[in-house]
Amino acid sequence: MKRLSVYSLIILVGGIFIFSRCNSGQAGKGKEASDSTTTPAAVAFGGFESQVAWGKHLVAIGGCNDCHTPKKMGPNGPENNMDLELSGNPSQVPPADVNRKEIESKGLLVGNSTFTSFVGPWGISYAANITSDSTTGIGTWTFEQFKRVFKTGKFGGAPQGRNVLPPMPWQGIGQMTDPELEAVFAYLKSTKPVHNVVPSPQPPVLGVKK
Ligand code: HEC
Repeated sequence: MKRLSVYSLIILVGGIFIFSRCNSGQAGKGKEASDSTTTPAAVAFGGFESQVAWGKHLVAIGGCNDCHTPKKMGPNGPENNMDLELSGNPSQVPPADVNRKEIESKGLLVGNSTFTSFVGPWGISYAANITSDSTTGIGTWTFEQFKRVFKTGKFGGAPQGRNVLPPMPWQGIGQMTDPELEAVFAYLKSTKPVHNVVPSPQPPVLGVKK
């Protein structure tokens, strides 16, 4: 009898031990599951934790840096100069020095050393300063103004403004949903302001084709 109760005590203690292990294992799993579950904020922001983080992602995959961030030469070729992120063609950097009649008649596109200015059949265009700078960037812009650039192709988002010049891919970017454009706008507003007056575009030397 005594023996039996010792055995049953061992079984009982062992059982409690195993049970408690199982329990803590489950609790651990539950915690992991809740950690990896997307929070409501992340759902609202395309899987990102904030609107600005989502906008940063959209700017990266939208290739905005390719034209709006001046390039500098690195060991593997041109790379983005992130000190000047999204600040457009630097005011002192000239466009490519090329035979513009030849470029225009052949329908070619030639970028400059910073790849922020473009000579083509449209004349010369310069990537705009889209940093948060309030005088030379988009710091004082409203969202409506910003959206108009992509929906109507009007420079400065002004209803009566001139047409946005190539190679700015406004039609493609204009396919973004309003929440996506709002996120891009929020990110641009959060960027470091870079004071840089981008030169005005020049018309084609062969005249604008009607
Ligand atoms: C292939 C080059 C290229 C790419 C890529 C590009 N842009 Fe542009 N962007 C330009 C050029 C060039 C201009 C100036 C056009 C002009 O003067 O009419 C411009 C103009 C703009 C303007 C208008 C600025 C103003 O003052 O009216 C905005 C806003 C803008 N880009 C935002 C973006 C955003 C956001 C992205 C990425 C999602 C982007 N661009 C990608 C070349 C590009």
